[in-house]
Amino acid sequence: MQRRNFVKLTLLSTLASNILAKENTIRFYKEFSKKLIIPSILEAKISNNNIKEFHLNLQEGSMDFFEGKKTKTYGINSDFLGPTIRVNNKDRIKIHVKNSLKEPSSMHWHGLHLEGHNDGGPNRKIKTNQSWSTEFLINQKSATYWYHPHTHKETGSQVYKGLAGLFLIEDEDSHKAKIPKEYGFDDIPLIVQDRRFDNKAQFLYKYSMHDEMMGVKGKVFLVNGVIQPYIELKAKSIRFRLLNASNARFYNFTFSNNQEFYQIAGDASFLEKSIKLKNLLLGPGERAEILIDLSSLQNQSLYLLDALSQEKLMKIYVKNEKNETFVLPSSFTEIKEYKNIKKLSTLKIRTFTLDMSMMKMGINGKKMSMDYINEKVILKEKEIWRLINPKKMPHTFHIHGCSFKILSRNNKAAFLNEAGLKDTVILFAEETVDVLVQFNYTASKKYPFMYHCHILEHEDAGMMGQFTVEEA
Ligand code: C2O
Ligand code: CU
Ligand code: CU
Repeated sequence: MQRRNFVKLTLLSTLASNILAKENTIRFYKEFSKKLIIPSILEAKISNNNIKEFHLNLQEGSMDFFEGKKTKTYGINSDFLGPTIRVNNKDRIKIHVKNSLKEPSSMHWHGLHLEGHNDGGPNRKIKTNQSWSTEFLINQKSATYWYHPHTHKETGSQVYKGLAGLFLIEDEDSHKAKIPKEYGFDDIPLIVQDRRFDNKAQFLYKYSMHDEMMGVKGKVFLVNGVIQPYIELKAKSIRFRLLNASNARFYNFTFSNNQEFYQIAGDASFLEKSIKLKNLLLGPGERAEILIDLSSLQNQSLYLLDALSQEKLMKIYVKNEKNETFVLPSSFTEIKEYKNIKKLSTLKIRTFTLDMSMMKMGINGKKMSMDYINEKVILKEKEIWRLINPKKMPHTFHIHGCSFKILSRNNKAAFLNEAGLKDTVILFAEETVDVLVQFNYTASKKYPFMYHCHILEHEDAGMMGQFTVEEA
């Protein structure tokens, strides 16, 4: 979209005519006039037994996304989105989640390895004015994880209103890597979302069968909760942590000067070696860390773009300062998980086929049901999960309680930039993706793990299943 202080949103669907006015005006701020907000790091209280304690409060709020209008939102300890939780591997942590909303909610730690009862799935509802506390050990590789509600049939609407935040894990690899680490200065989190608004500047969430089938997509883009923000950065190596926290939209990130950058991490680990890219595709729920060399762009500006929507997402001003040379480490980590598996052909294969017909959304012919356990998995046993998308529409498949390794896409090699550990994977049109998976934590019938499509409207419509993990 072009420069637009005063934009006309024209209606496509008559279905919405009672919700939206036929022609509708919202006043945008001058484009790229608002500074990017950096979500604050949540302070931990260290209790005497050396546990790091965190407090999250799910609350109502409002945001001035548009000039002269307040949009009603949800946030965590703030008006929109939540603070960044940052911990070290082997930290013992306790998180207290309070629900101050007028509806039940829940909180899920996306990508974390932990027992089912420590995770907040649909079975861990937190009622209004109640709290839930969970304590566990961080035991996995450094990467950019996140948290969001997982409320039965309401995940999409609650994330849409603003409930999501980053969960950063650091470990020896991330501490010793010669990469930018100054959070908010050269290590920049970018939570990318799209939203649709009504003529009163309120979020316009799912209202039609089309929304449920295709997912809710909006034409307004937010980075860390700001429409078309700008950021000023030093002329040096910059690390961006990208999270696609959109309900349904895929992004193909690129820079307006067509500059190459380096992906150094995926969902759940560093890559062993960086991968040079000009475009980076992320589906809903996926993350990536990239390094970009701004050292020769002193006093210039560029944009972060989405090549799929052709939108400018953020403006980057490079400061006029003495530049620092760009260094690219030759390696970042060693991924020992899933290495040297001699008898891949003897592993159990579990098949998951996405169903998407008008009336029935599910997996393997079943809609998600809270009182049905779809799969029973054995603790610490390696398996191949064969994820099948028989149709044209792309999806992302996410599995709780583990990190997995992509083995193949339609029997061909996975992409180089998904060679690290993952917890969410894109299933393109008519594609079969094999992933190697192992669960190191149990999940009981009462608090099972989930696997699901991370297009949140699909998840809420039943494209999800539950599984237990138990000892043999
Ligand atoms: Cu990010 Cu089960 O979800
Ligand atoms: Cu998850
Ligand atoms: Cu889907």
